[in-house]
Amino acid sequence: MSNDKISSVLLENRVFPPPAEFAARARVNAARMAELRAAAEKDSVGFWADLARRELDWHTPFTVALDDSAAPNYRWFTDGRINVSYNCIDRHLAKRADKVAIRFEGEPGDVATLTYRQLHEETCRLANALKSLGIGKGDRVVIYLPMTPQAVIAMLACARIGAVHSVVFGGFSAQSVKDRVEDAGARLIITADGGHRGGAVVELKKAADEALAGGCPTVEKMIVYKRAGQPVDWKDGRDLWWHELTAKAAPQCEPEWVEAEHPLYLLYTSGSTGKPKGIQHSSAGYLLGAHQTTQWIFDLREDDVFWCTADVGWVTGHTYVCYGPLSNGTTIVMYEGGPMVPDAGRFWKICQDHKVSLFYTAPTAIRALMKMGEEIPARYDLSRLRVLGSVGEPINPEAWIWYYRVIGKEKLPIVDTWWQTETGAAMMSPLPGATTLKPGSCTQPIPGIFADIVDESGTPVTDPDHGGYLVITKPWPSMLRTIWGDNDRYIKTYWAHFNNRYYVAGDSAHRDADGCYWIMGRMDDVLKVAGHRLGTMEIESALVAHPRVAEAAVVGKPHDIKGEAIVAFVILRGHRPVGAEAEALVKELREFVSHTMGPIAKPDDIRFADNLPKTRSGKIMRRLLRSIARGEAITQDVSTLENPGIVAQLAGKA
Ligand code: PRX
Repeated sequence: MSNDKISSVLLENRVFPPPAEFAARARVNAARMAELRAAAEKDSVGFWADLARRELDWHTPFTVALDDSAAPNYRWFTDGRINVSYNCIDRHLAKRADKVAIRFEGEPGDVATLTYRQLHEETCRLANALKSLGIGKGDRVVIYLPMTPQAVIAMLACARIGAVHSVVFGGFSAQSVKDRVEDAGARLIITADGGHRGGAVVELKKAADEALAGGCPTVEKMIVYKRAGQPVDWKDGRDLWWHELTAKAAPQCEPEWVEAEHPLYLLYTSGSTGKPKGIQHSSAGYLLGAHQTTQWIFDLREDDVFWCTADVGWVTGHTYVCYGPLSNGTTIVMYEGGPMVPDAGRFWKICQDHKVSLFYTAPTAIRALMKMGEEIPARYDLSRLRVLGSVGEPINPEAWIWYYRVIGKEKLPIVDTWWQTETGAAMMSPLPGATTLKPGSCTQPIPGIFADIVDESGTPVTDPDHGGYLVITKPWPSMLRTIWGDNDRYIKTYWAHFNNRYYVAGDSAHRDADGCYWIMGRMDDVLKVAGHRLGTMEIESALVAHPRVAEAAVVGKPHDIKGEAIVAFVILRGHRPVGAEAEALVKELREFVSHTMGPIAKPDDIRFADNLPKTRSGKIMRRLLRSIARGEAITQDVSTLENPGIVAQLAGKA
């Protein structure tokens, strides 16, 4: 980004104070929030250390709260020992053994429940099975499963024995599985024969087989959970059925007490290069962030039923399907499939049938369901809902108001939570009993988190009408620890910009006169398509792998449901086709990207041209491409272009 200040684009004036009855019963009301803020302000490290002692169960208590000797590689609670699965399961058994931990609904409509006692047993069995295969502390395990309880069991079983899981979203392709397995050096893959999604079966094992056929020399075994029941290829000696393996395993497994900093998981996410980065999270610090934010932001109560609709393949699924709610002993809902199966009432029916009280979803889903009309949610009993959440991308005020009015009946607080794969847990969000809401704003940092907006020189921007870099100014427990295998990239990506002074989120934002933050979007080449984070360079690499493609540039353009749509400008080898031939090639390239990366990365729009707009030094003018993709009048100075004539062609005018 240039030095230019970013003018704020959103204007929304309505405010919604917390409902009095809600505030009266809330865990955190305005007075309590002020106390928490003051305590954190005074001593942020001590603030988190107190919570870590009070809220988590330790095998060996820590004496060092924060070790900043290798900053910006911060280390929290370093001499403590802990086990994350113990905190998510065992510690609840005394009081909550028969409480439902997971209510599951499959896309075909099958329902299953698991109590905390059963979750313990299933997790121990799988943990023992993993051990029997020689998997132990520090080994990486790739989990590639549908949204069934087995995904959570697999994560917890890894945590139990100190293995490091890396969940790959079930919508990613074989190639993406391969890239992640190889980067992580995984010894094992846990997958399923198939999962139900959008009325079809997603053939996960088939993709995993394909990934292994093309490389992945470190993988020794594949555990296969039987979900869809369709035939699969089988490699004797490598492939093992989950049910056979766990039937033989004992239902008790002593947790491995790992150091606080022991990596709990790697989660790959897109950045501004072609290669996804393995974000590495710790055990204790991460768990504290997940635990505490779930409790505060959703005002957790013992009888709540919490449904976060995210897939476990994304960080939201890690923190708010699995670790955050389970460490609080909460009942969670997991749903396997798509929101439109069999119709647009599915989410609301699940809320009704499972008596969901806390509902957390993405703006893209809200916008899609909003389009289907308010008579659909009106058919369901949503009276149990207490708090509504939003995550993953800016929520436009129109969608916010619809969510508030139609789902929340103008009574429920909406928590718009800003955070990232890297931050581990929500960083900015209203606390529902304390914060006055503003549609479209994630309001303020939660207690213990310190944010700012700075200009190119690192100076705080105080003018409410101007934006800048969103930065976090103090370390926090659930922060990423590094990028797996590439600490230089960790420092370069998140810290170097302001000489290691701030964590640089990569978002631009502005702060209004009340101190509320408004996220304006990414400052790097990252797109948010239906809430999914995709790097433009990754999609470009996928395109240029096609034999007909010489060069490609990918940009985003606004989309009324997905938030952003993918537009690819493609330079071909050989002639530039027109008419039916062009259409056929567009189709082929879209399928090609879908196969390489997964259907979520399929470009919405592909345009062929003879060249890309480049500066004389050869740099692609992406800003210009963005304007062209949006059909905007070109206001940029094109005189510095190597090939100014190309603009008319790209815009379809030549
Ligand atoms: O641009 C911000 C956007 O999502 C990015 C992080 O993406 P990811 O790592 O996939 O994590 C998504 C789930 C936490 C951020 O840099 N983002 C996330 N939440 C919000 C948001 N933008 C605006 N408002 C939000 N509530």
